[in-house]
Amino acid sequence: MSTEATKTEVGSYFISNYPPYSQWNAESIPEVLEAFSRPQAASNPGAMSQELPPLGLYLHIPFCRKRCKFCYFKVFTNVNAEAIERYVSALCQEISLVAQQPFMQDRQFRFVYFGGGTPSFLSVKQLESLLERLHRHVHWNGAEEVTFECEPGTLSEPKVQALKKLGVTRLSLGVENFSDAILEENGRAHLSKEVYRAWEWISKAQFANVNIDLISGMVGETWDNWKENIRKTIELSPESVTIYQMELPFNTVYSKGILESQSESAVATWPTKRDWVRYAFDVFQENGYSVSSAYTVVKDPTKVSFSYRDNLWQGSDLLATGIASFGHISGVHYQNVPEWDRYLGMILDENRLPIGRAYRPTEHQRLIREMILQLKKGYLSIEYFRRKFGVDILEQWQSQWNDYVAEGYVMLPKDSGDSDAKIRLSTDGMLRVDGLLSAFFEPQFRNVRYT
Ligand SMILES: C[S@@+](CC[C@H](N)C(=O)[O-])C[C@H]1O[C@@H](n2cnc3c(N)ncnc32)[C@H](O)[C@@H]1O
Ligand code: SF4
Repeated sequence: MSTEATKTEVGSYFISNYPPYSQWNAESIPEVLEAFSRPQAASNPGAMSQELPPLGLYLHIPFCRKRCKFCYFKVFTNVNAEAIERYVSALCQEISLVAQQPFMQDRQFRFVYFGGGTPSFLSVKQLESLLERLHRHVHWNGAEEVTFECEPGTLSEPKVQALKKLGVTRLSLGVENFSDAILEENGRAHLSKEVYRAWEWISKAQFANVNIDLISGMVGETWDNWKENIRKTIELSPESVTIYQMELPFNTVYSKGILESQSESAVATWPTKRDWVRYAFDVFQENGYSVSSAYTVVKDPTKVSFSYRDNLWQGSDLLATGIASFGHISGVHYQNVPEWDRYLGMILDENRLPIGRAYRPTEHQRLIREMILQLKKGYLSIEYFRRKFGVDILEQWQSQWNDYVAEGYVMLPKDSGDSDAKIRLSTDGMLRVDGLLSAFFEPQFRNVRYT
């Protein structure tokens, strides 16, 4: 996406990986299988150090009460208990298959992430059964973070207590907006009273970190309502807040409507959405929060760390489980198949890993991936890349950095040889960071579809 585009048109904005997902392919699947089949050599590919990279586990729970009109995730609605049980069985069997792989020898999970979809869609009984079955094959006693994504209307007091008991340390709540009219218009399944009801249970349970998700630019958003959203969020006082700028990838209900009727998007323009995030960051900071990435503010940085985010952005391994999940092991990217019958069939009938496409990035591509992901934190340590990849990122992309300096998005260090030297984003740069990243892509990936 060009950084100059102002209308919110149909297309992807958020960049979460490199090379683009559209370039991953079935021909590379044997590379992942091979990576699983050997104990991981004590070297991080591309790294100069001899340490094993940290390992995370991602579990995808693809069910939701309703499909939000803006959502682009792989989700299923109207699913009966029998289908959920079949999915949970497949997920457990997938984990048992992964646990038997030589790659897993002597590996401990540093972080675990239950994402979706809506993991909190599962009932207490389904959750307890899932965890009990998972723990027959893997454990995460040493994990420093266990995240669980929740939609407010799916919670109950016993479910929140069960999450705490099951070891969740970071509960992320999809509030998105406090206006019932806006929630309804955008197809959310919950209203604001369900946020407040859930908040009491969540506060009582005392999780180490509770995060609230908001979206800047939901259909119907106004300045007055946005200010109310920020005021109400601060009143709840979560440990962290994540604010996404509304985007319209091709597979959302809104995008399909726009493309079919050739109508104008009802989402605010990019400059307006950025102004809303800028306002939010300012007010959060006035209230003691610090900006921890282009999307996140945190109340007490000494108390809360972001293990999943920070490890992933530094090239950790991630075991992806569940339908359509993305992962990375021993230097190979991979994604599970996105089709329901195929995912279940490969595991339950054929007893094999449900991998659908893969890609082995070159060392240079791994460097680009880490650089663009870490830039989302607002700064890059030149020394980090020099040590890990033997490359001076300032020198390598000097003319691109100079362009961004001229546009007011980037500040360069006075002395790049200093071990503490950092390339920093200005606030303007932070607010449009995803629009700045494709300039670092290799030429062959600049104009391809992202997903
Ligand atoms: C998997 S959902 C979180 C858990 C739960 N499914 C929920 O929505 O409450 C992840 C987050 O992605 C964000 N999101 C989804 N679609 C989006 C879009 N089109 N633009 C920006 N953010 C989006 C929402 O903030 C949502 O909370
Ligand atoms: S935003 Fe969350 S609740 Fe809505 S459809 Fe997407 S995953 Fe489901």
